[in-house]
Amino acid sequence: MPSVFIKTYGCQMNERDSEAVAAQLVAKGYSLAKTESAADVVLLNTCSVRDFAEQKAMNKMKNLVGTARKDRPGQILGYLGCMAQSRGRELIDKLPDVDLVLGTQKFHRAAEHLDELLAGKRDKIVDVAPEAKSEAAIREHLVNGSAKTSVSAFVSIMQGCNQHCTFCIVPATRGEERSRTIPDIVAECRELVARGVREITLLGQIVTSYGKRFSPAELWEGEGIPANRGASGVDSCGNSAFVQLLEAVHAIGGLDRIRFTSPHPKGYGDDLVAAYARLPKLCESAHIPLQSGSDRILKLMHRGYTREKFLAIVEKLRRAKPGIGITTDIIVGFPGETAEDFEMTLNLAREVQFDNAYIFKYSPRRDTPAAEMPDQVPQEIREERNHRLLELVNAIAARKYDEFIGRQVEILVEGPSKKNPARYTGRTRCNRIVLFDGSARHQGQLMDVKIERTGSFTLYGDPAVINL
Ligand code: 5AD
Repeated sequence: MPSVFIKTYGCQMNERDSEAVAAQLVAKGYSLAKTESAADVVLLNTCSVRDFAEQKAMNKMKNLVGTARKDRPGQILGYLGCMAQSRGRELIDKLPDVDLVLGTQKFHRAAEHLDELLAGKRDKIVDVAPEAKSEAAIREHLVNGSAKTSVSAFVSIMQGCNQHCTFCIVPATRGEERSRTIPDIVAECRELVARGVREITLLGQIVTSYGKRFSPAELWEGEGIPANRGASGVDSCGNSAFVQLLEAVHAIGGLDRIRFTSPHPKGYGDDLVAAYARLPKLCESAHIPLQSGSDRILKLMHRGYTREKFLAIVEKLRRAKPGIGITTDIIVGFPGETAEDFEMTLNLAREVQFDNAYIFKYSPRRDTPAAEMPDQVPQEIREERNHRLLELVNAIAARKYDEFIGRQVEILVEGPSKKNPARYTGRTRCNRIVLFDGSARHQGQLMDVKIERTGSFTLYGDPAVINL
């Protein structure tokens, strides 16, 4: 039976898509190779969000082509996902040894295409057309594939994004917003819990827009609409479709923790804030992409909120759930960003005190409005702002990590640490990684540890103090 190696670039959605493709191939009899050189098929699941990510995957493919020509003629090479979607056939024109280009609505067709390529029935396949209902086709999980997936799993709830931020290529790579139904998602979560999963992260490019365009009948298809649902899809308690989904997942017995990513700040209505207080399984962590602290830049980005609005959301969340971990994404050097605009981002970061922040240098993406905007910021200024903001957010993050020393926290143990298998790793409810001297009996357990010291973005805990 053929063997496959999948390398993933980019976000958690990509990791989830790769896992679903791997699970699908295993179900069809393929095996998972340990290395690229041992594989009959190598697939790169790509990211297009910044130019750097695209370059990395293209360089990797060039190397793979070189090695395959020399050592492994007949090896099948393919691009999957976002860059496959946005560049299509162009990828084969550039590197004619590539056999497969599979877009973001076609992951579930991987096995059928690979079978044909391996059997020599077709020479090249480019499949990037939109496909109705593809959002519900990413279902398979590799629960026994790794320690992590057996305790904690990702579930894709929707695809695409209609927000059209001016810097962002995602509407072109993932398409229009399409949501799965609540009963369909809940059924997948139940299956996972039955297989030992205790934590589920609901995934989508803009999860807070989940189900927005569904009627109640569509949202609850197959199950009948619960009594308190109004005609607009918002229930009689004012809960949006997303909060209704959170409630439905929350009701699954045996599930301990729920997370979601990525939301949009405008989706933090009072119903979602109240859900944090009301639903104990909903972990107190939120990744809320800020992008900029300047109202002028937020407007040019087409983000749909102001810095005041953002601050108000953070304040509401901290009031509902003191200790909530709040992380963010920020872009520096967006076209037209002046020194004053950047100062506003710095002082907003200082004001919010993020638990962690991912900083990105603006990267022009083709066919996005921002790429054509005047006053593109020179590369060295983007670098300098990146450096300054990183120093600030890292200093704040380190101080916030230190505040954990001496505290007792609940962690869900995922398994041996990748870097040092003698240590075990778990996560706090607020999504911080904790390392401790554990053993196989801890795996999959919720347990309390006392934090003794901190490392770089890691906490070190001692379970022996309280878990005898
Ligand atoms: N340039 C730089 N960063 C970007 N992001 C999205 N598009 C771009 C771009 N063109 C960042 C945003 C987003 C994160 C996933 O990637 O901060 O939240």
